[in-house]
Amino acid sequence: MNSPLSDAVKNPLKSLDEWEDFVVQHYPEPMSDAPKAKVAVGHAPDKTETEFRNYEAEARPTVREFYRLNHTFQTYAFAKAKRDEFLGLNRLKMGIWEAAEYLNTLVDDSDPDTDLSQLEHLLQTSERLRAEGQPRWMILTGFVHDLGKILCLWGEPQWAVVGDTFVTGCAYSPKCVFPQFFQANPDSQNPLYQSANGIYEPNCGLDKVQLSWGHDEYIYQVCRDYLPKEGLAMLRYHSFYPWHREEDYSHLTNAADEALLPWVRRFNPYDLYTKSHAKPDSKALRPFYEALIGEYFPGKICW
Ligand SMILES: [Fe+2]
Ligand SMILES: [Fe+2]
Repeated sequence: MNSPLSDAVKNPLKSLDEWEDFVVQHYPEPMSDAPKAKVAVGHAPDKTETEFRNYEAEARPTVREFYRLNHTFQTYAFAKAKRDEFLGLNRLKMGIWEAAEYLNTLVDDSDPDTDLSQLEHLLQTSERLRAEGQPRWMILTGFVHDLGKILCLWGEPQWAVVGDTFVTGCAYSPKCVFPQFFQANPDSQNPLYQSANGIYEPNCGLDKVQLSWGHDEYIYQVCRDYLPKEGLAMLRYHSFYPWHREEDYSHLTNAADEALLPWVRRFNPYDLYTKSHAKPDSKALRPFYEALIGEYFPGKICW
């Protein structure tokens, strides 16, 4: 049993939302070429470059500590070990709606009166996609996109489940937030991992690089036999802000990645800017989603 202190060290965020709120604060507007999902909350005015760079000063101490842990401990070896541990998908079999209800049992210190549950975030994302007439597979992608956060229910620390992802095994992108925290990562002392391409061939494609580990890669692997490649890219790269938002890592991407990038960008506003206090009625929406799930997934899949 962890003491409250060690738990706070392991999981500094009051809730996973604290990280997401930070990302919205850091990127207050959709990219100019992305469709603008209506911004329900936190629609910040344009920021000057200097204000933009002040994100570090403005970040809550809990968020700062979260990034410190993430950047310190997400090594190439760690990300590989977690892939080996989880991607056998041999833990259990359950359906998509069942997984959403399971994720919703995640208890943290968020405020139930004002914060959204995990299921509510999924439904707000997918319902906005639906309201704007996006394809059915994309609505479903929105509904499943954060189911990988069930890793938290299996005891994984926050810094190994969420956070902006980055490439391990090569030099860190200066576009990552809080780049100074990489100095404590053992990989920063390994010359093999510190050239621009590191262990990778130039433009080898993102499928061949190993991103830091988290809920994105996990849900991508769970869904890889069931959704179209555009939806799978949205799952796999939705937290890969240094690529889809900061336009870095072009020395590692290939033509297939560049073709999928607009889809990843198209998805992002539905994830980031759809939070509202109007809570979706999950009971009323369930029949629609069960039918949609049934179009793409078998009754139970491997997790
Ligand atoms: Fe996510
Ligand atoms: Fe999300």
